[in-house]
Amino acid sequence: MYHRLLWHCLLLAILLLVIEPAVRSQNAPTGPGFHGLPVRSKLADPAIESKVDALLKQMTLAEKVGQLVQYSVGTPAGPGTGREDYGEMVAKGEVGSLYNLPDVAAANHYQHIAVEKSRLHIPLINGLDVIHGYRTEFPVPLGLASTWDPDIVQRAARIAAQEASAAGVRWTFSPMVDIARDPRWGRIIEGAGEDPYLGGEIARAYVRGYQGTNLANSDSIAACAKHYVGYGAAEGGRDYNTTEISEHTLREVYLPPFYAALDEGGATVMSAFNALNGVPATANPFTLTEVLRNEWHFPGIAVSDFGAVRELIAHGIANDGETAAYRAFSAGLDMDMESSVFHEYLLKLVEDRKIPEARIDQAVRDVLRVKFALGLFDNPYTDETRENHGALPQASLDVARAAAERSFVLLRNEPVNSRRLLPLTSETQTVALIGPLADDPGAMLGSWGGRSRPGDAVTLKTALTQRLGPHGVKYAQGGDFLAATDEQINAAVEAARSADIAILALGEEPNSMTAEAASRAHLDLPGRQEELLEKVSATGKPVVLLLFSGRPLTLPWAFAHVPAVMEAWFPGIQAGPALVRTLYGESVPSGRLVLSWPRSVGQIPIYYNALDTGRPAGNIDLSHPPTNSEEKYVSRYIDELNSPQFPFAYGLSYGDFHYSVPELSTNKLSAKELAADLHTRPADAKTVLTVSVNVTNSGKVPAEEVVQLYVGLRGTSVAEPVRALKAFRRVALAPGQSDRVTFSLPPQAFVIWDVHNSYTVEPCQVRVWVSPDSAQGQPVPLEITP
Ligand code: BGC
Repeated sequence: MYHRLLWHCLLLAILLLVIEPAVRSQNAPTGPGFHGLPVRSKLADPAIESKVDALLKQMTLAEKVGQLVQYSVGTPAGPGTGREDYGEMVAKGEVGSLYNLPDVAAANHYQHIAVEKSRLHIPLINGLDVIHGYRTEFPVPLGLASTWDPDIVQRAARIAAQEASAAGVRWTFSPMVDIARDPRWGRIIEGAGEDPYLGGEIARAYVRGYQGTNLANSDSIAACAKHYVGYGAAEGGRDYNTTEISEHTLREVYLPPFYAALDEGGATVMSAFNALNGVPATANPFTLTEVLRNEWHFPGIAVSDFGAVRELIAHGIANDGETAAYRAFSAGLDMDMESSVFHEYLLKLVEDRKIPEARIDQAVRDVLRVKFALGLFDNPYTDETRENHGALPQASLDVARAAAERSFVLLRNEPVNSRRLLPLTSETQTVALIGPLADDPGAMLGSWGGRSRPGDAVTLKTALTQRLGPHGVKYAQGGDFLAATDEQINAAVEAARSADIAILALGEEPNSMTAEAASRAHLDLPGRQEELLEKVSATGKPVVLLLFSGRPLTLPWAFAHVPAVMEAWFPGIQAGPALVRTLYGESVPSGRLVLSWPRSVGQIPIYYNALDTGRPAGNIDLSHPPTNSEEKYVSRYIDELNSPQFPFAYGLSYGDFHYSVPELSTNKLSAKELAADLHTRPADAKTVLTVSVNVTNSGKVPAEEVVQLYVGLRGTSVAEPVRALKAFRRVALAPGQSDRVTFSLPPQAFVIWDVHNSYTVEPCQVRVWVSPDSAQGQPVPLEITP
């Protein structure tokens, strides 16, 4: 009898564990949050909380569910799109958010219905993918990150917020903060590359820019950190594919940029399409509840990605829409973007007692908090006279041009006739301008172009013609992205023969070859572009290759033979002026790669902050196949180098920089003291180590340098990256000028997710580098004692 009772209790406990929705803890976190702390959210405000409470008390269950439903009113593109009845649903309080509305008039139209016709007058929150600009289009996010300049990213996001909010948009699905180590993945263009620290700093900059000083200002828009989490690790680089990420790597690499975005006050987060360790991110209780709510105490909206809740059926963890709704909602998601299953089933799930109403209340609170914080209850409508339909203001163009100039990464600049080819001099009077990207304004806007207009974009051809006059530019397109005729290629070769130099603008077509659903298994130049490049080079005329792409391209021939190569990404509306100023040296390239650039697809994934192996290749010469066992039984390829084509943070300048040996404020730190300090917030944390270096511009032109600090830990309980970025600073130096750059490191610079699954600092040997990229510099030792 006693045994049977015990057995029943055990069964009940197991059942509860299996079927109960993930439970948000009410107390302070028991486990460590990232760095042991809840995020600093602007939504955690008692004034907002009491308004939310009062409203919630008046809501029927159906009205509550309505707040958790989101539909796209734009072009029919998926399950809930293309409906006729959005207005009726809004009037009945069945929808909490619309997105993809065509203009401000439509935003106000639906808002009037929500506020005037729905029983409780709850405003809608209107969303849009404002990714790298609304109308003033800035470089694509990968380009913006390549500036290594959070300030310019923030200014770009601010302009985007001002323009978008004038069109009635109060919520952008940006920034994408997915760490990505695989350039086959098309969406690598939407993020900030492979490094968690840089990714976090860039994420914070976007949030500050979008949300402004106060979310309630009419020109602030809510940010959305996406895609939570692990989307960038899609296996094989194939979009939407499964990911397997250990908790250690999740905590140290993939989660930090999300933490940073939300800690900066980011109001919303979007779950990812991928399965993470077997559990789709849309329905993952560990990430959506344990980490996001119980550790980070995030009080804002967790929205699904487009149609992703219904896609749980395709994932194989639900056999019908009701189960899909149950799994996603009970795992911790608040809002269903587009797939309509929350709309169809949440009410029933509560009535059937499968989901407690208290869980619905939690989700509704998350939504209402954001709406109150945005001031939507007080100011639901957008002043339709705010939007600028005329020419873009000079101030916006200036930011767009500066961002583009800082995003360019000079990859190669070899001497031609004993002088480096770039910058061009006034002796270059005639230029053969060749390639599908030389005069395509739409392509300059990149993918996810917001509401940009090709007419606002200035192409390279236009800007170069302005400088050299019509006779100075011999333009020959040389074919399209994928197709070229022999005549087109021959015409380009002839143009090169008749000019002083040739500039080729080659790369990817942004909409079909980069971003979502545009993974590539081959990373070379599409179509006949490589052939075009080689034939033009064969004329013997000096060649400058400008690459426009959303990812690294594997171009071994070009990197061995073309004297000057610069990665331009997709630079936005000021592409032409920014490129011409850079080519002629009025702007000096200062962008740095935010990802390791592979030599060949077979090296992928390749990233600088990797772990060492038990058999590192060390100093073994990898340039030939192994000839003996010493050369063979190490971690290497037999037919490729281990090193990337260009390392993380690489980028040339027209300046020339010299670094002194870094000086550390101490050569011993105490693990115990550092661990005790961990629970202070990174921004307020005390400095535990300063590292100083003198950087000198020994070149002939004023230039900016991105000075970087890396740390490597050895002797810890888990293997840590060989080296990992912990700080960086942009410095502007005149020729001959020296600057002392001092970095102040908080204890968090030494934190690890240890073998016992918690954040800590362990006694170990530390190496500290201050260098111009991730492959250079001599480390200085430091010890962390017990
Ligand atoms: C993308 C998201 C985007 C959403 C809404 C999805 O396909 O994955 O990044 O925000 O659509 O447009």
